Amino acid sequence: MAKNIDWGSLGFGYMETDKSYVSLYTDGKWDSGTLTADHTVTMSECAGVLQYAQTVFEGLKAYTTESGKIVTFRPDLNAERMAQSAERLEMPVFPEERFIEAVKEVVRANVEWVPPYGSGASLYIRPYMFGTNAVIGVKPADDYQFRILVTPVGPYFKGGAKPLTIKIADFDRAAPRGTGHIKAGLNYAMSLHAIVQAHKQGYDENLYPDSATRTKVEETGGANIIFIKGNKFVTVKSSSILPSITRRSLEYVAEHYLGLEVEEREIYLDELPEFEEAGLCGTAAVISPVGKIVNNGKEILIPSGMKEMGPTTKKLYDTLTGIQMGRIEAPEGWIYEIC
Ligand code: PLP
Ligand code: COI
Repeated sequence: MAKNIDWGSLGFGYMETDKSYVSLYTDGKWDSGTLTADHTVTMSECAGVLQYAQTVFEGLKAYTTESGKIVTFRPDLNAERMAQSAERLEMPVFPEERFIEAVKEVVRANVEWVPPYGSGASLYIRPYMFGTNAVIGVKPADDYQFRILVTPVGPYFKGGAKPLTIKIADFDRAAPRGTGHIKAGLNYAMSLHAIVQAHKQGYDENLYPDSATRTKVEETGGANIIFIKGNKFVTVKSSSILPSITRRSLEYVAEHYLGLEVEEREIYLDELPEFEEAGLCGTAAVISPVGKIVNNGKEILIPSGMKEMGPTTKKLYDTLTGIQMGRIEAPEGWIYEIC
């Protein structure tokens, strides 16, 4: 029985559910892992995560399909990316197969919290890992926790599918040889000031330019960006953006389901006025349309406008969510049935 929640009015927030998953890394190995009803964490005041932000995370979702099954979308890619994130921050890798099993286990333990089909909500799954023992000199921790919390969520942006107004950020996000390509907490800590400022100025999000030249588009604080121009699906190629699983999936959908031409390349800020549609894509963002981009006070109006998603963006959205909710046949290996 699903919980008695008004699923349709959920925003992107946290609520405690029944169980979280936890596995501890000590003496150079992971323990067997378990479910826990304890949603708090106790550790040294000098823990590596508290002093030097040694933490990485992932984000994926569980959905109820049209036929009533609970599934998740490409968790193998989250497992792989979390391994890459961990390696970059000198953390032990939580084995990828175990990651997938743990995701299934924690969702099964919280089935009542999985929003029903058609509610517009889903169960957000947040695997994360952090250094727990005391470190005072700058070095990697010895002990870690890998945890997964789950929480039901609605749309990431208030207003759901209403086109967003974003600004070219005044701040930089990721250096060319830095950590922009991994999902480390530190990338989000440094974006907080920028997002608070942007919100105060009336913008929904920051679109970060490349920090080396500030002439090219990178991504927003929590999503990759996609553009439509005629029959082309255009998206960013950069070694300092997060390799979004949604964006990589959309590239496939664009080519193989919608017959679009896919371009993954450098995109210059100067080119922005040439695009007909724009959207932010990610697990949380799904595809959130962009209606306006403001660069140093200069407004670029995306022709699809401020009222609704552009027509091609809508097709991409319908196809991707159709695949996730079991209405449209998925490419092999994309959908993992949980129960
Ligand atoms: N870029 C950033 C900075 C993100 O935080 C996210 C969210 O995970 C994404 C892109 C989208 O990635 P994905 O589609 O794998 O969720
Ligand atoms: C996600 O889409 O899963 C993310 O982690 C983005 C975050 C900004 C909520």
